[in-house]
Amino acid sequence: MKHKTSEILTMLRQEHIAAHMKKLPEAQQLSMVKQIEDLDFSVLSADETNEERGSFEPLFAKTLSEIQSDSDRYTEIGIKAIKEGKVGAVLLAGGQGSRLGFDHPKGMFNIGVERELYIFECLINNLLDVTRMAGAYIPLFIMTSAENNKETREFFEKHNYFGYSSENVWFFIQEQLPTVDTNGKLMLADNGKILTAPNGNGGWYASMAKTGMLKAVQDAKIEWLNVFAVDNVLQRIADPCFIGAVIDSGKVSGAKVVAKAAPEEKVGVLCLEDGKPSIVEYYEMTDEMLNSREADGTLSYNYGVILNYLFRVDRLNKTLSVKLPLHRAFKKIKYMDESGRMVVPEEPNAYKFETLVLDMVKLQDDCLAYEVDRSREFAPVKNKSGVDSVDTARELLRLNGVEL
Ligand code: UTP
Repeated sequence: MKHKTSEILTMLRQEHIAAHMKKLPEAQQLSMVKQIEDLDFSVLSADETNEERGSFEPLFAKTLSEIQSDSDRYTEIGIKAIKEGKVGAVLLAGGQGSRLGFDHPKGMFNIGVERELYIFECLINNLLDVTRMAGAYIPLFIMTSAENNKETREFFEKHNYFGYSSENVWFFIQEQLPTVDTNGKLMLADNGKILTAPNGNGGWYASMAKTGMLKAVQDAKIEWLNVFAVDNVLQRIADPCFIGAVIDSGKVSGAKVVAKAAPEEKVGVLCLEDGKPSIVEYYEMTDEMLNSREADGTLSYNYGVILNYLFRVDRLNKTLSVKLPLHRAFKKIKYMDESGRMVVPEEPNAYKFETLVLDMVKLQDDCLAYEVDRSREFAPVKNKSGVDSVDTARELLRLNGVEL
């Protein structure tokens, strides 16, 4: 083992890794040395983000009825932008989906009952609706992780891109960060290396820049990127009416939001923080904020985000020079114990470090909150059962006429 590597590990108080390395054959030692040189260990000393929050104010949304009365005009603007090749879509599919506990990329999950209908397929079907309307393909950038990239790509290949044009699909891999146990100690992965995890969905733009995707975006003169999560099977992607409404508003970003089901619903709410668009988490809200109502009776902080954002590309570059806040997430992550045995935990056991796309909203000058009907556009598959689960998503798909 290189002397320098052992010093680094001692400095980080991770001597157990040095001890583990000493027992490895030379080739494996060398590959671990390389891993240690490449990994960003600054996260180990970063405190949990306890960001000082500014002063909050409600941000009112363009409501369903307001959108309805202007929908033809918005749709026309959106279709025009799509036809002119100004709109791209970014599918965030690098997550580990630990709550679902499915041992493959989440998009490969079969949500069908009598037939096969994969999550990726649902999303592509929704995108194809827009392709047909606009008579043009929307460039689709798919963010994967080091763990799931190969399987994801092969799945798309095997299924012929579910009818989408493969020339309009690009895959890129997000970065990894080290993972620690509850004592702050680095852990080991099944390949004997240090256990790492994808660095959160906030890394998408920086990873696009690093992997050359951004150059493809700029060369194609794409002006807007619609960023969305893999797990919402009712997700409307590159929705012309949404795109048109944001362009028409003159704002530099937009977020699809749903009216909260109840004041205490556990969703992040789009609001203003020191005059800038921002998302306040439910646990950060005071009782007064949770229950405050407008004259018409609606909640003042009423609009929950559903991880479907539209960003103007030229305004995203500044996010590259800003360090997004780092969040620690406590998750179930399989690892190798000291005896070399793989452990698949039943309960959360490790902290991963993540930046979040919602923190990019705060870096925008403004943001159009665009209300959508949750029963038509929001069916997230997060858990095996219960809330936001396979069962609830199936029910919502059926409600929207999708045969399972
Ligand atoms: P979640 O916050 O639900 O995380 O991701 P997750 O890892 O998929 O699932 P759990 O929490 O372990 O059960 C929201 C969206 O962000 C993507 C996910 O793929 C999903 O579309 N994501 C998350 C990434 O692309 N990369 C990440 O590092 C984390």
